Amino acid sequence: MATIPPPVFYPPFQITRVSHAAMTVRDLDRSMAFYTRVLGLVVSAREGDTAYLRGIEEVGHHSLILRQTADAPRCERIGFRVLTELELDKAHAHFTALGLPAEWVDRPHQDRTLSVRDPFGMPVEFVARMTPMPRRTIQTDHFPGGAALRFDHLQVHSAEITGACDFWTSLGFRTSDFVVGGPDDTLIGVFMHRKDIPWDIVFMPGPGPRLHHFAYCIPGVQEMMRACDAAGIHGFGQQVERGPGRHNQGHVQYTYLRDPDGHRVEIIPESPKQMLDLENTPQRWDEAKRKATMDWGYPAPQSWYDDASPFAGAEPKPGMTVPGRISLEQYLAQRGR
Ligand SMILES: [Fe+2]
Repeated sequence: MATIPPPVFYPPFQITRVSHAAMTVRDLDRSMAFYTRVLGLVVSAREGDTAYLRGIEEVGHHSLILRQTADAPRCERIGFRVLTELELDKAHAHFTALGLPAEWVDRPHQDRTLSVRDPFGMPVEFVARMTPMPRRTIQTDHFPGGAALRFDHLQVHSAEITGACDFWTSLGFRTSDFVVGGPDDTLIGVFMHRKDIPWDIVFMPGPGPRLHHFAYCIPGVQEMMRACDAAGIHGFGQQVERGPGRHNQGHVQYTYLRDPDGHRVEIIPESPKQMLDLENTPQRWDEAKRKATMDWGYPAPQSWYDDASPFAGAEPKPGMTVPGRISLEQYLAQRGR
């Protein structure tokens, strides 16, 4: 029987939210065209082989870093904010005490930054502050594509869902939703958060750790359609991978796109749910039954289950066989198609 560990309300250091991702790309111009025209991200800086982008309302310098290399595309690291500089020192002491890698690194446009790896090899960094940039919230005549507002969450393929849930719970993350499957009630997914919506980081089963997707919040469904239209207009139409559709968990609409290097990005409107009070206990979902909760539209293509971006320096372990999940062929056969 899957159980979720109790929340840690006074963690060893204070993380506030997921903040950014750094991805490698093979053609920076092409990638920038995708993220600025389709998602509507703002370019904060382009310096040599690296571009720094942010959402329209973000005042931190960047939430997406694109670095051009000739190597296979990967995620170099994911980033989280901490409450103050003091929390960085606490984080350094905590990871060091656990025997996990932790070192201070210089990152352009970021104040003091701590680079660590979680017990599963995922490259993570913590930062309290970046170079401030102007909000562009009222410059509505400069909002192309999806008009992405801000970095929202990310999802990771994990070979050790229970272990990941335990570790990130120990850092103060609370579980909003969890998914179980099979006769043994195996834990096969957790939605975890620090900010007051149901997700900052999600762990789902698959060879991992690998980055399944990162997500930007957009103003609404209309902007989702505009992003898809922009994808079509600018030659990225075939990279709309899944959706538009609606999630069961969180009850939020979604569209997943693949960028020119295959990195997956999701766009979603703002969460309709707040998660903050003590009454917000983890909600359990059964993998087989949740299909019947809001069963409309097509299921995800197989690529959505299989493909993910490798993390730099992390060798993925084989993922579990997911109990209770049906294939696209089974889904269509059930409906006589
Ligand atoms: Fe997502």
